Parts: sequence; C-alpha cells; structure tokens
Amino acid sequence: MTDTLTITDNRTGKKYDVPITDGTIRAMDLRQIKAAPDDFGMMTYDPAFMNTANCRSAITYIDGDKGVLLYRGYPIEQLAEDSDYLETAYLILFGELPTTDRLNAWTREITLHTMLHENIKKFMEGFRYDAHPMGIFLSTVGALSTLNPDAKNIFDKQSRRLQIHRLIAKVPTIAAYAFRHSIGRPYNQPDNDLTFTGNFLNMLFRMTELKYQPNPVLARALDVLFILHADHEQNCSTSTMRNIGSSQVDPYSALAGAAAALYGPLHGGANEAVLRMLNEIGTITKVPEFIKKVKSGEGKDRLMGFGHRVYKSYDPRAKVIKKIAELVFTVTGKNPLLEIALELERIALQDDYFVSRKLYPNVDFYSGLIYQAMGFPVEMFPVLFAIPRTAGWLAQWEEMLLDPEQKIARPRQIYTGHAKRDYTARCRCRWYPSSTRAAPGNTCGSWSPSVLDRRARRPSSRRASTSKIGSPPTASSPRNRPGTSRRRWTRFA
Ligand code: CMC
Repeated sequence: MTDTLTITDNRTGKKYDVPITDGTIRAMDLRQIKAAPDDFGMMTYDPAFMNTANCRSAITYIDGDKGVLLYRGYPIEQLAEDSDYLETAYLILFGELPTTDRLNAWTREITLHTMLHENIKKFMEGFRYDAHPMGIFLSTVGALSTLNPDAKNIFDKQSRRLQIHRLIAKVPTIAAYAFRHSIGRPYNQPDNDLTFTGNFLNMLFRMTELKYQPNPVLARALDVLFILHADHEQNCSTSTMRNIGSSQVDPYSALAGAAAALYGPLHGGANEAVLRMLNEIGTITKVPEFIKKVKSGEGKDRLMGFGHRVYKSYDPRAKVIKKIAELVFTVTGKNPLLEIALELERIALQDDYFVSRKLYPNVDFYSGLIYQAMGFPVEMFPVLFAIPRTAGWLAQWEEMLLDPEQKIARPRQIYTGHAKRDYTARCRCRWYPSSTRAAPGNTCGSWSPSVLDRRARRPSSRRASTSKIGSPPTASSPRNRPGTSRRRWTRFA
C-alpha cells in the first residue's frame, strides 16, 4: 500500500489523499484542491527551489547534514585518492566505472578531439586583451554550436556521444586559449602524449621548449581538483543546463548558459571572490575585524567560501582540498594568504554566528589558494571549475533528455501586478502619416516615424519607380542626401 498524505482544505472542509513517493508529494496532485469549480487549483510557492525536487537523478548523492558526496554511489574521498578525472567523468556520464579497455578507448576518443577549429581561434582573438577568461570561455562554448550543427540531433545516441567527446576534450583547450589570450601569448597546441591535466598545463604554460614536461605533483593535484568539481547534483548551473536543455537546444548552447550561471560570485565565481577577500584582509591581524564586519552585515560582506545551500557540515570536498594544498605548496612554496585563510576558518568555526547557521568552509575556500600557487590569475578560477563540471552538466543533460517525465521547464508564478486596465493612446501618429496629423486623437508635436509611416511617406516619384516594398533607398533619395536626416526627410515629404 502506498503512503499517503491527507490534506484538509479548511476553505471547503474537503479532504484529499495525496500519494507519497520517496518522501515526496507531487505538486500536480495539489491542483485538484480548489475553493470553487472554476478555481485554477492549488500550487506550491518555492522561490529559489529551497524544497522542490525538479527531477529524479541517479548521478550524484549528497547528504548535506553528514557531509557525504557520492558519484554513482562511489564516495568522493575514494575517487580523489585513486581515480583520475577522465575515469571519474566516464563514471558520471555512463553510470559505471569503465573496464581497462573501455577506459583506454574513452581516453583515446577524448584525445582525438582536443584541437579547436581555426575559426574558433579567430573568434577568440576578437576579444579585448583584458576580457575576463570566463566571459571568453562561455561565449566560445556557445560559438561551438555554430560549427557543429549535427549537435541538434539530440535524440540520436551516436550524435550525443560525439558531442560529449568533443565538449569534454575541447573545454581545456578553450580555457587554455582564453588564458593565453589574456596574457598576450600565442596559443599552444594540445600535446596528445600527455595526460588530460598534463596536456592542460602544457597548453597553459609551455613557452619555447619543444616538449613540455608537466610537474607530476601539480598535474595530479589538478586531476584531484577536477574530480572534486565534476558534479554536484542540482546546483544553480546544473539546473540551468537542464532548464535550457529542456527546450531541446543543442548541448553547446545549453552548456554556455550553464557556464554563465557558474560565473556568478555565489556559485563558481566564489573561489575568485575568496582570493579577492583574502587580499583585501591583507594580514592575519585584520581577520577579527573582518569577521566582525561580516557578522554585522555592514558593507554586505560575506565570508566567501563559507556556507552552502545543501551542506550543513564541513563540505567533504573542502577536506580533500585542504590536504592537496599542503602537497602543492611543497612544490610551489606556501601561498602567503594561507595563514589568513586558516585564521578565518579557526575563528569562524568557534563563532556562534557561523556555528548556529551551520556555515562551514566549502569547496571554494581553499581551491583558489592552490590555483594561485600554481600560477593562475584569479580570473581563471571559475574557468578551472567549469572544465571538470562539463562532465556533470552533460550527464545531467542526457539524463534529463531521456527521462520520459521531463518536458520543457516552465515554472508558474503568483502574479502580483495590476488587474486588467485600458491603455490610453498618447497620440495616433504611429498609424497616421504626418500629412494627416489632424487625425483624431493625434496630439503629438514631435513624433518618431514608424516603418509604416516611412513607406507611406516616400516621395511619389520614388514610389512609382520602385515596385517592390522594401527596395533599398537610392543614393539620390532624400534620406541619403548629405545633411539630410531621416527625420527631416519625413518632415518635407
Ligand atoms: N558569510 C556570512 N553569512 C552567511 C554566509 C557567509 N558566507 N552564508 C550564509 N550566511 C548567513 C546568511 O546571511 C543568513 O543569515 P540570516 O539567517 O541571519 O539571514 C544565513 O547564513 C543563511 O544564508 P542564506 O543566504 O539564506 O543561505 P543560502 O543557502 O541561500 O546560500 C550560499 C548559500 C552558498 C549562497 C551562501 O552560503 C553564500 O553566499 N556563501 C558565500 C559564497 C560561496 O562561498 N559560494 C560557493 C558555494 S559552494 C560552490 C558551489 O557549489 O557553487
């Protein structure tokens, strides 16, 4: 027998039994609850989706109270310890860990798609020297849609697979080119002998050497960071990916939108914001003062890299990142901002403001320190988040497409505006040429001609000579005479 929830509508006294599945009731089951027969029916109101499940998903599991994160059932700590990004991406996308043969084939497929079309390079060159790399990244991903029109075949499994290969392979190349563009250096071609992250470091940092040798510790650290960022169930950017994808657009366009959502400082832009915050604090002695300011709400400062909508305990990704930071600093030297970060964490974890609100360090609190120590400018941080999250976005997009319950995403609203009211025309000149300004209701002294007006008001000689509506104006037409503005032309016509 299914569990049910009994609801009594005190407006009518009627009772309704609503089925409960997986601890959830269906919002559409509430529609039957009406105060009158012509009533629309009951809706739920949930701004920011605080308590609404938008889909059923088998990809990522989070227990926010216990600090648990599983990809397809595997704990994030175990994957971070022993897997690598490409294997984890395969797991997230296809549901199971690959056999050795499948992993080799998958790695080869990704390696074959790392290069970018020359047109895309030219497109990227068009950005100004100081363009934010995340702006370049998301625009370029969107532009890939124009080069891959076959990607519109979203219900063709083979086509989807090809776009997945292309996207996973090309996002590091786009990211690296965006970085090289911002520092005014030539783009580096991918080196397919290297690992996924080794090649990424090559495309970022190779100078004149013929063969770039990535530092194995840094390449591994980046790999682990990519594993940790690969998916995080229905966050802002992932639900954007699903929402845009639900219109059945190609995955490049949907992914550009997801990357735009990630860009914001409350989401993937938070790691950039953490570094700016640490720089602003400047010294360890100023930490108590900063914490006081955050608590007072003065200046709207938040402790960036702290708090999470889902985690109400230590983010399990932050724990791994803290360990990785120590490893990276053995190669790069300690980031001087680390001390400030540690002090912020120490004070915040003892302070009632943060403890009572269950605000703990999240994934972004320490990742920026590692990226900075590795030589990335802060503007690259959200891009470094977007590269691995591409696997998660694509897995969630495909799951959404294949889910028979999903339709185009279209939330409801509670309308709070005016009731119906009539528009009073300012003047009627949009419908009447100026020669008939005396038209009823025309009170307008200065007016802007509409297209209809302009057509109707062409000089009669020209009207006779141009039979087609919309023919281009000739050099001798009044509007093209030097010193003759469109507006003046309409006046003397
Ligand atoms: N610093 C100070 N106060 C905070 C913070 C913070 N970082 N985060 C939340 N609060 C307070 C907030 O002011 C509110 O207090 P009150 O109840 O007195 O009004 C309470 O905690 C609940 O906050 P909320 O904004 O209602 O919580 P939310 O679930 O809507 O927001 C969040 C989650 C991540 C946007 C928020 O914690 C935040 O802005 N954190 C800083 C930005 C950040 O680090 N974002 C990265 C998130 S992890 C990476 C990712 O997945 O994108």
